[in-house]
Amino acid sequence: MMIERVLVVGATGNIGIAAVKGALRSGRQVLAVVRNQASADKLFKHVGSSEGIDIVEASVVSDTGIKTVVHQVKAGKLPPFQHVYTCVGGEYTDVPLKDITTDRLRKNMNMSFEANFFAYRDTIEYLQEQNHPNTMGQGPLFSMATAAARENEKTNVRVNEVYLMFRVEVDEAAAEHGVTSSSEFASVYEEILANPEIRGSRVRVATPADIKNLKWAKKF
Ligand SMILES: NC(=O)c1ccc[n+]([C@@H]2O[C@H](COP(=O)([O-])OP(=O)(O)OC[C@H]3O[C@@H](n4cnc5c(N)ncnc54)[C@H](OP(=O)(O)O)[C@@H]3O)[C@@H](O)[C@H]2O)c1
Repeated sequence: MMIERVLVVGATGNIGIAAVKGALRSGRQVLAVVRNQASADKLFKHVGSSEGIDIVEASVVSDTGIKTVVHQVKAGKLPPFQHVYTCVGGEYTDVPLKDITTDRLRKNMNMSFEANFFAYRDTIEYLQEQNHPNTMGQGPLFSMATAAARENEKTNVRVNEVYLMFRVEVDEAAAEHGVTSSSEFASVYEEILANPEIRGSRVRVATPADIKNLKWAKKF
């Protein structure tokens, strides 16, 4: 049987670590996009192993970063993937909105909106071309996730939005700050991968109890 693989974009973050863990726990492998070797080391440390994880260095905030990754996959230089989970993030800050400068806003829009948009735009055709039930998971792009869910309603790609309403951090930080850990949150992605009925949906994770009792609703 073919072993499936998930491309995780933003793999080294709190949510990315959860996606990597969820993918590995479900028996899949991971192709993780990282910005440099230090980020790769961070990923292996949080996951506890490098087994089942391939790494590719690319700039996810640039217009061409993910395109280059897909080209390398198509050329057989990187392993193929059937699923994409994108969760690049901007700054986590408590600066009041009224004090956020335009420069800072734009930097964050690039790190959050643009990077996740590029990840969708530049992988979706590759997923659709496959004769295989694939998935695309989006965290940070609420309205785009709706358009993507509509566009893929009748394709082989299940597009879902994960709407997370509380704080998740990598295990050590979570223990220190008393918040939910990436290892716990990984169950959400594991369940999405396992359940073909979850498609075109918002998976609403409003409280930690929702992790084990997943709630989802069609987005349109
Ligand atoms: N954590 C939560 O509880 C939570 C809750 C609700 C929504 N969200 C949303 O989920 C998304 C991810 O959150 P998170 O907590 O996982 O964020 P995070 O821990 O800050 O991770 C951000 C990820 O994006 C990458 N990244 C950021 N800027 C980059 C850049 N300029 N170039 C390359 N890579 C860059 C980071 O790579 P490096 O490791 O190399 O820095 C990391 O992989 C965010 O949009 C956030 O708003 C999170």
